[in-house]
Amino acid sequence: MGESGGGKTTVTRLLGRMYELNSGCILVDGVDIRQLPRHELRSRMAVVPQEPFIFAGTVAFNISLGDERAAARVRQAAAVVGAHRFIEQLPQGYDTRLAERGGNLSLGERQLLSFARAVAFDPELLMLDEATASVDSESERLIQEGVQRLLQGRTALVIAHRLSTVRDADRIVVIRQGRVVEEGRHEELLAQGEEYARLYCLQFDCGGGAVK
Ligand SMILES: Nc1ncnc2c1ncn2[C@@H]1O[C@H](COP(=O)(O)OP(=O)(O)OP(=O)(O)O)[C@@H](O)[C@H]1O
Ligand SMILES: [Mg+2]
Repeated sequence: MGESGGGKTTVTRLLGRMYELNSGCILVDGVDIRQLPRHELRSRMAVVPQEPFIFAGTVAFNISLGDERAAARVRQAAAVVGAHRFIEQLPQGYDTRLAERGGNLSLGERQLLSFARAVAFDPELLMLDEATASVDSESERLIQEGVQRLLQGRTALVIAHRLSTVRDADRIVVIRQGRVVEEGRHEELLAQGEEYARLYCLQFDCGGGAVK
């Protein structure tokens, strides 16, 4: 987590080798990512981007992207993240054609599709770049439930704007101007009373004074 423009999305791009590092290295399970062929590296991770991307094509295609193994998991993946219900209500269900950019879906629905896509690929490492755009409270609830189920049982790197999403994380990293400025678990960072505590209290109204 951290301020806008701090470098959070950049971390996901570096992990997928969209950009190469100028210095330092990134290890995944102890292996330098530069030693892995790009296609292998990318087949092990999935990114749920900040802005969900919808292709012109059916709902099912938008979940599987034409990948055979993912295609076999389309319905199951949609059910896991809670997208199944709204898809069933579309005129042709999973065969409903979507316009490019998904104009015929709400933002919350587009996000659930994007979650389902990630689950269908069943990656070892999931990167979720949480959207900043505000949605109505019903979509918000759907998304929150979807996120929890998306993350279950896998290694995840979550870029969170809603701090409720990261409260239970094993490790929370606060980034500012391209640097790590705080790192620890929720309770530790709250007790530290710095950036994380300040942002957390802005969102959850801890009351004045001590932030525990
Ligand atoms: N392709 C690029 N080339 C050069 N600079 C970039 C590129 N992409 C992003 N930046 C810059 O790098 C910095 C970090 O951007 P990044 O998108 O990682 O921020 P962020 O923490 O994800 O912000 P937000 O919370 O708004 O999504 C910003 O100053 C941004 O303008
Ligand atoms: Mg970003």
